[in-house]
Amino acid sequence: MKTPILETERLVLRSFKEEDATDVFECWESDPDVAKYMFWTSHNDIEKTREWIAFELGQIEKPDWYRFAIVLKDTNILIGTALIYYEEEVQCWEIGYNLGKKYWGKGYTTEAMKRVIEFATKELKLSQIVGRYAKENPASGNVMAKLGFIFEKDIPYECNNGTVMRQGIQCRLMIER
Ligand SMILES: CC(C)(COP(=O)(O)OP(=O)(O)OC[C@H]1O[C@@H](n2cnc3c(N)ncnc32)[C@H](O)[C@@H]1OP(=O)(O)O)[C@@H](O)C(=O)NCCC(=O)NCCS
Repeated sequence: MKTPILETERLVLRSFKEEDATDVFECWESDPDVAKYMFWTSHNDIEKTREWIAFELGQIEKPDWYRFAIVLKDTNILIGTALIYYEEEVQCWEIGYNLGKKYWGKGYTTEAMKRVIEFATKELKLSQIVGRYAKENPASGNVMAKLGFIFEKDIPYECNNGTVMRQGIQCRLMIER
């Protein structure tokens, strides 16, 4: 299924477009604080952001990858990204997300991911989803707890293209059908 457009009270979730490159770069891709607990490394060159968007454009029709730009409904400002995709490493669907720093702490990620999970439940008919995060990143742990994810096990957690290893937690959402 093609990545759809989803809506919540305050947000629109849509695919990325080539024209988003500057906003993505300025809002979060160039910020090492946002990248700290992510698999990727912050971009010091907007060309890398353009390459990332080109990759995402190629994924839009894929049945195992749903990447969303998170946009504020009122102002049309791009604030972050949400992802649900099939991860071979854990043999399960997994979620990922990040926002630009100035949008942290306003409930946006929880609101966006609830809608993504609703989509995954109704349209993709998933029965479980995995989440992984660094122990030192309670913000992400709290998002997953609010979404209903339950602790499964301690794991090694790879950040910044494998250049940093941290202690992590794997949790799982069981979806009642
Ligand atoms: C993790 C991240 C996406 C959270 O987004 P957010 O929109 O600020 O999260 P929410 O506002 O939906 O908050 C969800 C819960 O976490 C709590 N929370 C948010 N930031 C927190 C922090 N720094 N420390 C502890 N708890 C925090 C909130 O209080 C909220 O719980 P509450 O409603 O009971 O108060 C954001 O901090 C971010 O982009 N971080 C960098 C990228 C990242 O780490 N991504 C996840 C990798 S696994």
